[in-house]
Amino acid sequence: MTIQQVLLLLLLWMWLPHPCHTEMLFRRTSDLRPKSFGAHASRIDGKTIHRQKRGWMWNQFFLLEEYTGSDYQYVGKLHSDQDKGDGSLKYILSGDGAGTLFIIDEKTGDIHATRRIDREEKAFYTLRAQAINRRTLRPVEPESEFVIKIHDINDNEPTFPEEIYSASVPEMSVVGTSVVQVTATDADDPSYGNSARVIYSILQGQPYFSVEPETGIIRTALPNMNRENREQYQVVIQAKDMGGQMGGLSGTTTVNITLTDVNDNPPRFPQSTIHLRIPESSPVGTVIGSVKATDADTGKNAEVEYRIIDGDGTDMFDIVTQKDTQEGIITVRKPLDYETRRLYTLKVEAENTHVDPRFYYLGPFKDTTIVKISVEDVDEPPIFSRSSYLFEVHEDIELGTIIGTVMARDPDSASSPIRFSLDRHTDLDRIFNIHSGNGSIYTSKPLDREISQWHNLSVIAAEINNPKDATRVPVYVRILDVNDNAPEFAVFYDTFVCENARAGQLIQTISAVDKDDPLGGQKFFFSLAAVNPNFTVQDNEDNTARILTRRNGFSRHEISTYLLPVVISDNDYPIQSSTGTLTIRVCACDSRGNMQSCNAEALLLPAGLSTGALVAILLCIIILLVIVVLFAALKRQRKKEPLILSKEDIRDNIVSYNDEGGGEEDTQAFDIGTLRNPAAIEDKKLRRDIIPETLFIPRRTPSVPDNTDVRDFINQRLKEHDTDPSAPPYDSLATYAYEGNDSIAESLSSLESATTEGDQNYDYLREWGPRFNKLAEMYGGGESDKDTS
Ligand SMILES: *[C@@H]1O[C@H](CO)[C@@H](O)[C@H](O)[C@H]1NC(C)=O
Ligand SMILES: *[C@@H]1O[C@H](CO)[C@@H](O)[C@H](O)[C@H]1NC(C)=O
Ligand SMILES: *[C@@H]1O[C@H](CO)[C@@H](O)[C@H](O)[C@H]1NC(C)=O
Ligand SMILES: *[C@@H]1O[C@H](CO)[C@@H](O)[C@H](O)[C@H]1NC(C)=O
Repeated sequence: MTIQQVLLLLLLWMWLPHPCHTEMLFRRTSDLRPKSFGAHASRIDGKTIHRQKRGWMWNQFFLLEEYTGSDYQYVGKLHSDQDKGDGSLKYILSGDGAGTLFIIDEKTGDIHATRRIDREEKAFYTLRAQAINRRTLRPVEPESEFVIKIHDINDNEPTFPEEIYSASVPEMSVVGTSVVQVTATDADDPSYGNSARVIYSILQGQPYFSVEPETGIIRTALPNMNRENREQYQVVIQAKDMGGQMGGLSGTTTVNITLTDVNDNPPRFPQSTIHLRIPESSPVGTVIGSVKATDADTGKNAEVEYRIIDGDGTDMFDIVTQKDTQEGIITVRKPLDYETRRLYTLKVEAENTHVDPRFYYLGPFKDTTIVKISVEDVDEPPIFSRSSYLFEVHEDIELGTIIGTVMARDPDSASSPIRFSLDRHTDLDRIFNIHSGNGSIYTSKPLDREISQWHNLSVIAAEINNPKDATRVPVYVRILDVNDNAPEFAVFYDTFVCENARAGQLIQTISAVDKDDPLGGQKFFFSLAAVNPNFTVQDNEDNTARILTRRNGFSRHEISTYLLPVVISDNDYPIQSSTGTLTIRVCACDSRGNMQSCNAEALLLPAGLSTGALVAILLCIIILLVIVVLFAALKRQRKKEPLILSKEDIRDNIVSYNDEGGGEEDTQAFDIGTLRNPAAIEDKKLRRDIIPETLFIPRRTPSVPDNTDVRDFINQRLKEHDTDPSAPPYDSLATYAYEGNDSIAESLSSLESATTEGDQNYDYLREWGPRFNKLAEMYGGGESDKDTS
């Protein structure tokens, strides 16, 4: 405890009503006079009821809190005027803290506090006092209530609810602008003394901020505080009780004050001139570069809008503001040309979008810079004088005629010479050519509108010293019509006239076509090539004409067909004409003029039959023919089937035996003697397609007696060969008796003969015997079947 505090306590002690002098006297109820504070009047149900509260002269004791003495603190004394001082009375205390915190001397009525009391814990203690006769134990005084009030001392310092406050204030605020209010609380009794009277002062943060001593409101204290110079301030505020007097207790708090941005800075271009370059070939929309103005402010106060406000290229360039980077992007607006202009100057302005009128006095919130744009030269491809060319040319022009000329120039300042060429893919027939030096297109093949009316070419122009950089241009060549085609019949006319036709009868309406395409449309004239007594032509003047008979009495026996040459001409220049011939057949007709029959020629192709019917008839004939051919083929195949399975096999056999029929000339083949005496040719019987392992000695078969029936002979031979090991392994006997196509016997197959067991009559062999070609040698070749060998 400091000297100051001791002194203060002493002062207090003297100044406060001393509890030692407080004495509480019991008085008779009758003696008690109503005190002003004890009289209460209340209105209940319209009547005024007066209640008399009995009171004490001293019904309050005062006790100082935070007593630090070693003995019990004396509070006061109860005393009854019935007390004679002979000790017959006994004082009793009850209520808050009676007997523990507050004790009473039952003889003297002195009240003491047993320990230190904190007002901030409990400021009032309500107790009851009683005085009884010690002997009779009767109360000599009625029980009475009193209060021990704890007197405050300044034992609590002011405190702030927050250790650190955060607050903000716009920069450039006028002096005295309220920033924030801080309030400290003091636990001491505000109703008593100055212990709870707080005064604020600023310990740190001057000279920028001040605090109102009574309220704790922090205000700005300096004019033109600039966020751009300093943004954060730390202010320390002290709260001191005792009205801020010496000896008062104090607490502090920190207030972090941030200056918020206002738009008090204009945008500024760092450079007064900016140089940009752009190749002349850059297309519209190409970004050339960017400009950026800086703004010391932040957020939307730094937002800038860029504009081109002046210069000689205002229509050539655009500037757009890029929001995220706050840059002005300069782009190409119109195609540039180095040869036309090489340098542009733009005046670009940057202006704040959110301007605060309060700061207009600081100057305009915009800035300008000069942007110089240099256009760079690029080697550009040639440029044609037109985007496309259309040449019209008559189809009859002479070869080599110039049909038109394309022109191109090099846009570069060097202006190098240009070469022209034709894209051959657009002129596959190589009808055109171009003079590479001057772009004149000429024909190298004759033109024909009737083949192709358009020739859409592509001409390439390239600089001679930079052939890769080429430009193309479409060239449309339209071929104009020249009357170079004669009209002709639209179809082939094949008509007829009835024998009973009368003069002036219409037999055919004819029309014509012309490949040419004159501007005014086609106009045809029809006439007969020569005067004809039999027919006449009547021009309908609508590009058709009628063929009429000129007389009656046509007879197909006299003349079956008239050929009527008709001259068709057009009216274009030069006039083209042709002669078409009408074939008029004479036919017999019924009375209504329906054709009945024409001559023999007409029968084949009856004029009355439609092509459809003709086709049907033709189809029928073809189908019939096919059926006939198939039938014949089937028959032929059935005959041969068991004999010839494969032509290949037969040929093999023939080749291996190397033995063929000699035909009529082969005299030996017709020698029936050989047939009857096989010994003569036995040596030829060896198989030649195998190497004989053991030399096979040919058997001698007994000669057949002359009178032996041929059937027996064949049977015998057959048996012989069946058992012959040297015979071919496969059944080549199949061809044994094949006579060939012209044979009456058709087949003499051993297989058949074996199954039919002699049903067959072989008598014919005697008759036809000589025609068998070496039957004994197993093969026979018919006269006309030579191709089988
Ligand atoms: C207050 O300001 C100080 C110093 O500028 C800083 O370190 C601290 O974090 C701030 N406190 C708050 C709550 O903003
Ligand atoms: C182009 O050159 C050719 C041949 O040298 C010439 O015949 C033609 O007339 C020229 N064309 C023009 C338009 O001068
Ligand atoms: C050529 O061009 C003309 C005009 O554009 C067009 O009418 C024609 O169909 C084209 N011909 C061919 C073959 O492309
Ligand atoms: C006209 O018909 C007659 C008789 O049928 C014939 O003799 C004559 O040659 C025909 N004239 C012509 C030009 O065909």
